[in-house]
Amino acid sequence: MSASLATVSYIGATILFILSLGGLSNPETSRRGNVYGMIGMTIAVLATIFGPRVSMAGIPWIIGAMAVGGTVGLYAARKVQMTQMPELVAMMHSLVGLAAALVGFANYIDPAAAFQLSSAEKSIHEIEIYLGILIGAVTFSGSIIAFGKLAGKIGGKPLLLPGRHMLNLIGLLVVIFFGWQFLHSESVSAGMVGLTVMTIIALLFGIHMVMAIGGADMPVVVSMLNSYSGWAAAATGFMLNNDLLIVTGALVGSSGAILSYIMCRAMNRNFISVIAGGFGTGGGTPAAKGDAQPAGETVSITSAETAELLREAKNVIIVPGYGMAVAQAQHTVYEITKCLREKGVNVRFGIHPVAGRMPGHMNVLLAEAKVPYDIVMEMDEINADFPDTDVSMVIGANDIVNPAAQEDPGSPIAGMPVLEVWKAKTSIVMKRSMATGYAGVDNPLFYKENNRMLFGDAKKMLDEVLIALKT
Ligand code: TAP
Repeated sequence: MSASLATVSYIGATILFILSLGGLSNPETSRRGNVYGMIGMTIAVLATIFGPRVSMAGIPWIIGAMAVGGTVGLYAARKVQMTQMPELVAMMHSLVGLAAALVGFANYIDPAAAFQLSSAEKSIHEIEIYLGILIGAVTFSGSIIAFGKLAGKIGGKPLLLPGRHMLNLIGLLVVIFFGWQFLHSESVSAGMVGLTVMTIIALLFGIHMVMAIGGADMPVVVSMLNSYSGWAAAATGFMLNNDLLIVTGALVGSSGAILSYIMCRAMNRNFISVIAGGFGTGGGTPAAKGDAQPAGETVSITSAETAELLREAKNVIIVPGYGMAVAQAQHTVYEITKCLREKGVNVRFGIHPVAGRMPGHMNVLLAEAKVPYDIVMEMDEINADFPDTDVSMVIGANDIVNPAAQEDPGSPIAGMPVLEVWKAKTSIVMKRSMATGYAGVDNPLFYKENNRMLFGDAKKMLDEVLIALKT
């Protein structure tokens, strides 16, 4: 393939990636967005393999590596449960980081890479290598720790070493010092010393940074690592002089940063304080206590009574959360929705931006169950409607409907925007026990006078409600 055809293919792939990101911003166009991304990536891979920079002798190696990587990826993607998706994503990010670091080392050792460069160009090339390995190593070790925390292999409690900010600062100064040494090294072997020390510090920093972040902030961390992996890929693009990799890396880097910002806003967290760490437990009990402790009794309700309340309602808002995903109750939820709509009840869904365990988690499940998009509302669109709602039905959600976020300034989740389900005439919470949610915080909603608890597995209880509705 000629160089100009490869360039045209790269431009085509870039446009497809941008269209893909645009498509993914809306559930209705997300399928198309995925297709654009897949076509773009196929073009990019083919144009690279058959482009002017790869010799014929290298092609079998590349195809062999792709076969191994593709098989592992296919196996992992087929096997992974929807609720384990963030772990898989964290694992993938670690590979991008590792690739960036390895390409950096290979590029530095390869005498052909800096051949015929002027001394200024050589310095720029070495800065690219140094930064690429730095970002890659932080992304690699940080993502592995994020994977461990999400998979429950490492406790979610933040690890707060004494003087941790000072440790980070010392690490940064050492990295700058060795960067200077690296740029002024006379030989490759001398330069390798600086590179290796920096890589070790970057790996330790990645571990330290993510270990200090509590379970409740992990969603932000995953999208932040997504952003880092993008910048690592962009740095690789600079090292390899590959424009497509630079543009694609920048797209991933900036979209990951924007997503991190949106998620911080949804959880009322300051981005810097997330990175500084220290918030949240590993999820579940024991609860983190705020100033005002929830008090009172909970009132239970049966499936038949729930069906009765729903049947008599004019307006119903369903708020799904992580428990709906665990119970795989989305299909029954839609059956109930259809049944109620046939009876003239106005049923809508209220989706919190961080409901579940990954961005868009609830939207994906509801789309899978074929719930029409026009009754699935975002938190900001629906929150004002709760006072005019007869029944709000919370299905396996907890933190995202916790009034303590508004009512208790001492609560660890104080200030986080929540769905105000308690403002409906009656709220029904469907969960198995009184256990806390991901943030490990008590929920005073359960004790409110107009709240009813329907205890049990969401799928089982909803099946019962559906049967009761149909009889
Ligand atoms: P959570 O606060 O985690 O609450 C989920 C509730 O579902 C639990 O209290 C649990 O109570 C219940 N549950 C679990 N399995 C169930 C089942 N089979 N049937 C019925 N109920 C079941 O979830 P949420 O309200 O969706 O809030 C999300 C939380 O996760 C937030 O704190 C958010 O910050 C965090 N987070 C979000 C993301 C993203 S990006 N969405 C990623 C990681 C973390 P029982 O055990 O009593 O049943």
